[in-house]
Amino acid sequence: MATDSQTTFEFLEAALESSLDGIILVNSQGRILSVNQSFRDMYGFGCCPLVGTTLEQFDQLACGCFHCADDRHDFLREIFNNDKGPLRREFHVQSPEERVISFYARPVVDREGNAQGRISIHIDITDERKRQHELEKANQHIREAQTQLAQSEKMASLGLLVAGIAHEINTPIGSINSNNDILIRAVSKMREFIECDQCPAEIRNHPEVVKIMGILESINQNNRVACERIIEIIRSLRRFARLDEAEWKKANILEGLDSTLTLVRHQLKNRIQVIKEYGVLPEIDCYPNQLNQVFMNILVNAAQAMPGKGVLRLKAWQEGAVVKISISDSGMGIPKENLARIFDPGFTTKGVGVGTGLGLSICYKIIQDHQGKIEVESDVGKGSTFTVTLPIQQGAS
Ligand SMILES: Nc1ncnc2c1ncn2[C@@H]1O[C@H](COP(=O)(O)OP(=O)(O)OP(=O)(O)O)[C@@H](O)[C@H]1O
Ligand SMILES: [Mg+2]
Repeated sequence: MATDSQTTFEFLEAALESSLDGIILVNSQGRILSVNQSFRDMYGFGCCPLVGTTLEQFDQLACGCFHCADDRHDFLREIFNNDKGPLRREFHVQSPEERVISFYARPVVDREGNAQGRISIHIDITDERKRQHELEKANQHIREAQTQLAQSEKMASLGLLVAGIAHEINTPIGSINSNNDILIRAVSKMREFIECDQCPAEIRNHPEVVKIMGILESINQNNRVACERIIEIIRSLRRFARLDEAEWKKANILEGLDSTLTLVRHQLKNRIQVIKEYGVLPEIDCYPNQLNQVFMNILVNAAQAMPGKGVLRLKAWQEGAVVKISISDSGMGIPKENLARIFDPGFTTKGVGVGTGLGLSICYKIIQDHQGKIEVESDVGKGSTFTVTLPIQQGAS
């Protein structure tokens, strides 16, 4: 009849074998006392004779059985050496199968507190990690979709707001501008009179008259520049808001890109080398004028980003149901903290009076209306690439 301790021993042995986690027991002489099948399966040991092996012998066997991305010697020391306290670690096995194993090892201590050996427990967390990774990816997708949604809602309400403001400002500025024209003509007539022979010399040369004429002319000139600037801003605002004026057409957008490039040539002068890599593109459904506006804004930005010499690379290609155009410059690049803001209306780094900060927000709106995408990649000091993706057929997806 089996003794109690024999039954307990057999039960413990069966329990070890039944565990889904890998378990390995090392005795106080540093030799393996027991190792279960789950451990063998995890690390590909098959039926290698492991019981009784020392760290060095185990290491030799391990070489032929599994490969790992982490330090194997560290791993072995954890399993065999009792000089370390309990520690949970992750171990990445590359072959015979890719696995992530979480394991911990600790001393086996008897009732008197003496260390009798070491136990380590190995849990295969490959699926858990995979699910975690998928969850992180899904979260990332959700965050991106939220940002896009927020961006398009912001653009839609801004369109309305901007149209209202542009309309309100347009009338008064029109009247200021035409009054300024009248003033300019009146002052120039006054100048003609002062300088003609009928005007007495004491009036012409009177210091007050000379001073006042100078002030009037300079104010008129400043007002003219200011009015032109406001009118240009209103024009941009209206383009931004009123994008429904043109008509849908089938068009070859490369013609538009090239004609726009011709318009900005003077900004590229002899300093910027233009490289074109155009594939064959089908005609696409679009508002050609609006796309030209997009190309213009991106090209002007690129030219402005390269104050000295540089390279402008234009690429166009088809990818299934869409066409893609990328415009790369070798300019100053965009700092990371600005990347999320460059499509915001009014965002500019070009200083007061130089940029209105509307160029890219107009591009964004136009491309959005075409059911397309505009993306940017940039490296500070190396340059930026704007990629526009447009469906060949509207409403096809
Ligand atoms: N190719 C580029 N290289 C570096 N920075 C760029 C580039 N394109 C855009 N940016 C940055 O994005 C900002 C916003 O561009 P956007 O075209 O909307 O406005 P802007 O050029 O400043 O003014 P506007 O186009 O109204 O004259 C720019 O001020 C600049 O900081
Ligand atoms: Mg611009």
